[in-house]
Amino acid sequence: MADRVSVCLLFAFVLSLVASLPSQISADEAEGKEFVLTLDHSNFSDTISKHDFIVVEFYAPWCGHCKKLAPEYEKAASILSSHDPPVVLAKVDANEEQNRELATEFDVKGFPTIKILRNGGKNVQEYKGPREADGIVEYLKKQSGPASTEIKSADDASAFIGENKVVIVGVFPKFSGEEFENFTALTEKLRSDYDFGHTLDAKHLPRGESSVNGPIVRLFKPFDELFVDFQDFHLDTLEKFVEEASLPIVTVFNSDPSNHPYVIKFFNSPNAKAMLFINFTTEEADSLKSKYREAAEQYRLDGISFLVGDVEASQGAFQYFGLKEDQVPLIIIQHNDGTKFLKPNLEPEHIPAWLKDYKDGKIQPYKKSEPIPEVNNEPVKVVVADSLQDIVFNSGKNVLLEFYAPWCGHCKKLAPILDEVAVSFQNDADVVIAKLDATANDIPSETFDVQGYPTLYFRSASGKISQYDGNRTKEDIIDFIEKNRDKSEKPAPQEEQTKDEKVKDEL
Ligand SMILES: *[C@@H]1O[C@H](CO)[C@@H](O)[C@H](O)[C@H]1NC(C)=O
Ligand SMILES: *[C@@H]1O[C@H](CO)[C@@H](O)[C@H](O)[C@H]1NC(C)=O
Ligand SMILES: *[C@@H]1O[C@H](CO)[C@@H](O)[C@H](O)[C@H]1NC(C)=O
Ligand SMILES: *[C@@H]1O[C@H](CO)[C@@H](O)[C@H](O)[C@H]1NC(C)=O
Repeated sequence: MADRVSVCLLFAFVLSLVASLPSQISADEAEGKEFVLTLDHSNFSDTISKHDFIVVEFYAPWCGHCKKLAPEYEKAASILSSHDPPVVLAKVDANEEQNRELATEFDVKGFPTIKILRNGGKNVQEYKGPREADGIVEYLKKQSGPASTEIKSADDASAFIGENKVVIVGVFPKFSGEEFENFTALTEKLRSDYDFGHTLDAKHLPRGESSVNGPIVRLFKPFDELFVDFQDFHLDTLEKFVEEASLPIVTVFNSDPSNHPYVIKFFNSPNAKAMLFINFTTEEADSLKSKYREAAEQYRLDGISFLVGDVEASQGAFQYFGLKEDQVPLIIIQHNDGTKFLKPNLEPEHIPAWLKDYKDGKIQPYKKSEPIPEVNNEPVKVVVADSLQDIVFNSGKNVLLEFYAPWCGHCKKLAPILDEVAVSFQNDADVVIAKLDATANDIPSETFDVQGYPTLYFRSASGKISQYDGNRTKEDIIDFIEKNRDKSEKPAPQEEQTKDEKVKDEL
């Protein structure tokens, strides 16, 4: 499937800690009734136009995350069908040729992509909630209610604002006028990312000057300066304010789950992402953190977000980046197009200078790749990160590519079988059987979703990518290749199937 880079990265971080709990609510499976509506190009518009609020999942049958989501999504649909008013969940097979146009229209760049459609499809919003049934239900209940909650008393305020989340409250002399309208528009726009409230009386609010009578926007946060006021009600300015003020100067990643919402925001930000990985329990941790924070204060308005991670909690991230614990302390910066910059084994004094060099474009990007082999004449060809373009994307051939790990037993069992497959295609110049050591090479994760080993992908000469999940026998693999390959009549297009790296939550 086509995860986006930062999404995978987010998973590498968060999923290692937040194991999703099994849902307590059981679905109406016994009846065999399907609550999720199946839509396609023929009935999509009609159905959408009939709903004020409808949720649509764009999926592909081969996508692993979609398969995992399916029973949860169905369960959520069954629960929400009896919500008042009912919330409808639908799905579209975006892999289906005839539905591709819909997928393009809704800017679907990875699977699954879930959209919330309001007003008969006039407003479209990204689904950014959890992936298990109870979480989906909670999230959608909130999304289908009002975007901002009125605060009428100090009790309301303390219950709503609390101590440990970001909450944005508009204070208004009256709930009308241009400022109020702009605030309301913002709450609609950002409702999936933030909690919004509005009040007529700043005295109800727990922090800040209580004599203001607005219009004013007060952002509460559990870190840095704890609250900020803002009075510019231009829509764009207000949005920018909310996004900047709600991020900690340095996001902390460790095993404390109360930090995780900020980690998620960190990955959702459109900025470049700087990550310092250190061992929080060592003596030098404090001086590294304080140098890093100084740098963050200096550069955070230049399109860089900063995170400091405890190596003890970051195994997922280390695996994702191919980093080793003996490289700690290290900084890695990742751009949204996947480009990375790495400084291993750094000392506190290195931080400002290295970041300056990075800003000045003096640091070479880091791509993990084994060297391109000089000889590559075994039946199964060796692909490395640096030869992936040439052998897989630009060769115009039908390529079966195995992602393996040297330590993986199933991969070892598959090796002689792949050899036989490769031998049987040896006289067919249009078919290539290849393998890539996924532990030693960067994989374009927006194209290949490698969750385990071995993972087999097939790219037809014309660029259609599919995952092979059949039996690992010579016959079945050959059958699959014969079924999915393009015959050589038509010239193969050269374009790569990478997706735009827009950062979006894919949770
Ligand atoms: C839309 O059309 C598809 C294909 O004909 C069908 O399977 C599906 O049930 C239809 N959905 C609705 C809501 O009518
Ligand atoms: C509301 O937002 C619009 C669009 O940015 C802007 O033109 C208008 O001046 C804003 N109103 C106020 C009172 O700031
Ligand atoms: C972190 O430092 C502590 C104390 O020095 C040490 O016991 C621990 O093994 C270190 N952890 C890692 C992952 O290096
Ligand atoms: C794989 O093999 C098993 C046992 O031989 C068979 O039951 C199953 O249907 C096969 N699956 C596929 C996808 O061919």
